[in-house]
Amino acid sequence: MYYPVFRPRRLRQNETFRRLVRETRLHLEDLIQPLFVVHGRGVRQELVAMPGCYHLSVDELAREAKEVATLGIPGILLFGLPAAKDAVGSEAYADDGIIQQAIRAVKDTVSDLLVITDVCLCEYTSHGHCGVVERGQVKNDPTLELLARTALSHAEAGADIVAPSDMMDGRVAVIREALDEERFEEIPIMAYSAKYASGFYGPFREAAGSAPQFGDRRSYQMDPANGDEALREVGLDLEEGADIVMVKPALAYLDILWRVKQEFRGPVAAYNVSGEYAMLKAAGRLGWIDEERVLMEILTSIKRAGADLILTYSAKEAARLLENRR
Ligand code: PBG
Repeated sequence: MYYPVFRPRRLRQNETFRRLVRETRLHLEDLIQPLFVVHGRGVRQELVAMPGCYHLSVDELAREAKEVATLGIPGILLFGLPAAKDAVGSEAYADDGIIQQAIRAVKDTVSDLLVITDVCLCEYTSHGHCGVVERGQVKNDPTLELLARTALSHAEAGADIVAPSDMMDGRVAVIREALDEERFEEIPIMAYSAKYASGFYGPFREAAGSAPQFGDRRSYQMDPANGDEALREVGLDLEEGADIVMVKPALAYLDILWRVKQEFRGPVAAYNVSGEYAMLKAAGRLGWIDEERVLMEILTSIKRAGADLILTYSAKEAARLLENRR
């Protein structure tokens, strides 16, 4: 009788064996929790298409940040909703803007939690685009100075890492220069390098009030059909001084994540975006999938594909599940 020499099932027979040969392990340290901050006091308003996520006023945000830190999650990514929008997104770089207030409050409450800030204009502009609009077009170079001002104001307020998400060409270099000039040479840049023009941002745009008022973002975000171009984008950002590069969204772009990690090796972040979260939550609520199991499978797949860190709205939940597993 013929027996194969290698029987893969030998090492699958129970959890003790499986743990012994497990290749990919998700850690608490891999996770970053994105949070939305709004003006006001005592605000904690759940988001319709993102159950379990909230609009938080600065006081509530400080409390939330403390909870995130207590769970062992190393950092948060902050998004702000301004009091007023205008054509040039003034509140994005205002000293007393919502994000600037939020950074100070979090830093006063929990000093060892990494505060990462999204650097972009779209939440702050009346037209909802990520850059300056002239004659119906999103202009690249006039936007760069505003992005640099925004990143600088975040650093001045105490941000630990700035994360430009606008997809303008050359923004990493300009931000790096602006930070260095003001002696913030130690503040890293996490660049949204391969950011695709994706339908998966829908719930976020509703939550952040950042949907473009005309047209779409395809003239600056990447075409979902392109893979080689993602490598060029990442290469450029690294040359310009990015410390961490990001692929976004995660799930429909695991091949990109893999390629970026294989090609460049340095720290790679993956953004498990709002639409991915919403799908998981919706199917879970309908009882169509085992939500906790699928969540861990998703996060493990992102890590296996090459992510060193994962930005996910499920960070708190995953942290609890990881804790219970031990
Ligand atoms: C801002 C920004 C967006 C997201 C992160 N930063 C929205 C967009 O590009 O329209 C999306 C995050 C998510 O969907 O979870 N430019």
